[in-house]
Amino acid sequence: MTPLTLADTLLELLVVPSFARTGYAVRRRLFRWEDPSRWSLAGRTVVITGPTSGLGREAARSLAAMGARLVLVGRDAGRLAATRDALARETGNDALATVVADMASVASVRAAAATILATEPRIDVLVDNAGAMFAERALTAEGAERTFATIVLGPFVLLARLAPRLSESPDARVVSVTSGGMYTQALPLDDLMFERGAYHGARAYARAKRAQVALMREWARRLRHRGVLVTAMHPGWADTPGLAASLPGFRERLGRQLRTPAQGVDTLLWLAAAPREQVAPGRLYLDRRGRPFDRLPSTRLSAADRRSLWASVAAITGEPDLPAA
Ligand SMILES: NC(=O)c1ccc[n+]([C@@H]2O[C@H](COP(=O)([O-])OP(=O)(O)OC[C@H]3O[C@@H](n4cnc5c(N)ncnc54)[C@H](OP(=O)(O)O)[C@@H]3O)[C@@H](O)[C@H]2O)c1
Repeated sequence: MTPLTLADTLLELLVVPSFARTGYAVRRRLFRWEDPSRWSLAGRTVVITGPTSGLGREAARSLAAMGARLVLVGRDAGRLAATRDALARETGNDALATVVADMASVASVRAAAATILATEPRIDVLVDNAGAMFAERALTAEGAERTFATIVLGPFVLLARLAPRLSESPDARVVSVTSGGMYTQALPLDDLMFERGAYHGARAYARAKRAQVALMREWARRLRHRGVLVTAMHPGWADTPGLAASLPGFRERLGRQLRTPAQGVDTLLWLAAAPREQVAPGRLYLDRRGRPFDRLPSTRLSAADRRSLWASVAAITGEPDLPAA
């Protein structure tokens, strides 16, 4: 370990400064990061979910500024249109399509994927960013717990459907936006929908994020030989409308220590647009470095567990299996 990586690892162990603005600022200086504005995505098509607010909105702006054609996937046609118009004004890039999908509905995501496949001859990058935390447990019209549906089921179907088109790209990538909150929870494989015990919104969210990362590792394994580079990142803690709505007390306590949305999405942009050889598939990143999947041995999911989760999610969504080779 070099002195620089040692300093970074120590910072990571402290959690609060690592996830807060300090982590971003220190690592940016330590590792002399290249500015995202230096990367070009001209000629590439990026599909991004949740572009209407917070981190997704900020990422969409930067990706458009890098010259990508964007497919903005959101659940509200009006908010999508307003986002598209504002992005075109802010970046001068008007190669912006909108597709409506409720990520909590398998049927809606399937219809959106069909639209995207019918209208986009190439897809180079998929950014799985939409997410939400809910104070009360509720089921979707399809009978799934809504946190798990939004963070796990919808994104699984979207990637399953877009994977063949992605694999035709010479530099295909998938970036999942997850949460460091996942470190706090194990995922009970026999209770994916939080049917047992008292529901707790932050716990349901952390479990779903853990499932998202476990599936990312499976996708990475299964799509690697098809040329698709699959990774996940977590943004630390960034001041967004979503954070303000779901964790107002936490937001108040952290105050100016919270990252800006631009700081939160730096690693997302790096994974989507930096030279491919800098990135390793199947890893979880924070601030442009791979991080552990677990901080507690009790949260660890074995390779067999991850395969079992994959099989459960494929069965729930009705998506066909995708062998690794
Ligand atoms: N902010 C943080 O510190 C932080 C930390 C860890 C992880 N994250 C993750 O980062 C991602 C972005 O969060 P954020 O903080 O930017 O939150 P945000 O401001 O609430 O933005 C969330 C985005 O997801 C969309 N979305 C939510 N549910 C959806 C659904 N069912 N179908 C389609 N779109 C849906 C929202 O669309 P609408 O505009 O229609 O509501 C919005 O565009 C999430 O995955 C979140 O879990 C954030």
